[in-house]
Amino acid sequence: MSTPYSTLIILSISILSCMKYVFSTNFYRDFDISWGNGPGNIHKNGKVLMLSLDGYSGSGIQSKKAYLFSRIDMQIKLISGNSAGTVTAFYLGSEGDNRDEIDIEFLGNLTGDPYTVHTNIYTKGSGCREQQFHLWFDPTSSFHTYTITWNPFMIVIYVDGTPIRVFKNLESIGVPYMKDLPMSVHSSLWNADQWATRGGAIKTNWTEAPFKAWFRNYNARGCVWMNGESSCISGSSKTINQDWYTQKDLDISNKKKLKWVQENQMIYDYCKDYNRFPYGIPQECYHN
Ligand SMILES: *[C@@H]1O[C@H](CO)[C@@H](O)[C@H](O)[C@H]1NC(C)=O
Ligand SMILES: *[C@@H]1O[C@H](CO)[C@@H](O)[C@H](O)[C@H]1NC(C)=O
Repeated sequence: MSTPYSTLIILSISILSCMKYVFSTNFYRDFDISWGNGPGNIHKNGKVLMLSLDGYSGSGIQSKKAYLFSRIDMQIKLISGNSAGTVTAFYLGSEGDNRDEIDIEFLGNLTGDPYTVHTNIYTKGSGCREQQFHLWFDPTSSFHTYTITWNPFMIVIYVDGTPIRVFKNLESIGVPYMKDLPMSVHSSLWNADQWATRGGAIKTNWTEAPFKAWFRNYNARGCVWMNGESSCISGSSKTINQDWYTQKDLDISNKKKLKWVQENQMIYDYCKDYNRFPYGIPQECYHN
């Protein structure tokens, strides 16, 4: 069936869909400003968002749609210069108590010192699954792509396409997994100088405020939650055929990349914190 003609059609469809991906971000359309600075900080007809933090307020956005399984991409350029004491967050979270959450938090630092990428996974309200990383590039000099994929089998966090963390669905051995509550997409910037930088030793320098982080090329795919139902279950979504949705494990090349990150870029792993878990590290640590 693969005649040159059909190849050409497939090629042009994929080029079109790439273009659609690049140009479809609209922060006005896709997000509500959940706190802090107003819609004045959305620029370029909705394509670029700035979150800011000053002595009065931080700021945050929340997606209008919620998903039950999704792939979320965001390009972020973090606060440049002295960002000590600040936290810029990008995460998926459900509403209410006993929430599910997939967190990426960027902990600021003094000029020239590395940001820490702090990740955590909450299921049914309980977290304590921190892993922290240093990046292999300067995240303040240009935009980089941060991705969360969440399907029925596993969660993967990627930085520029490199997996940094995997959390598998291990319900079969009694580890809760997020598959009941829809989650929306959040980003925020706030002051956390009690703990964020060198354990709270370095405080936010307010004479350098406002601090600014930039966001663009947001893309969300997934099972949209509407009227108490997932679009994937009702069969009205194309999501269930997409690679990120059907993926049950990383391929060999991504496993190698993950191993490289774990060996070279990881600075804290709850799975190795034996003092913290004197009665044995959590079950999922043996499988992820
Ligand atoms: C800040 O820089 C110090 C010194 O390089 C480093 O140990 C630390 O992990 C960095 N990040 C934070 C959030 O403190
Ligand atoms: C805070 O920033 C100002 C302006 O850059 C600088 O002059 C001052 O020394 C900084 N304060 C501290 C405590 O580092």
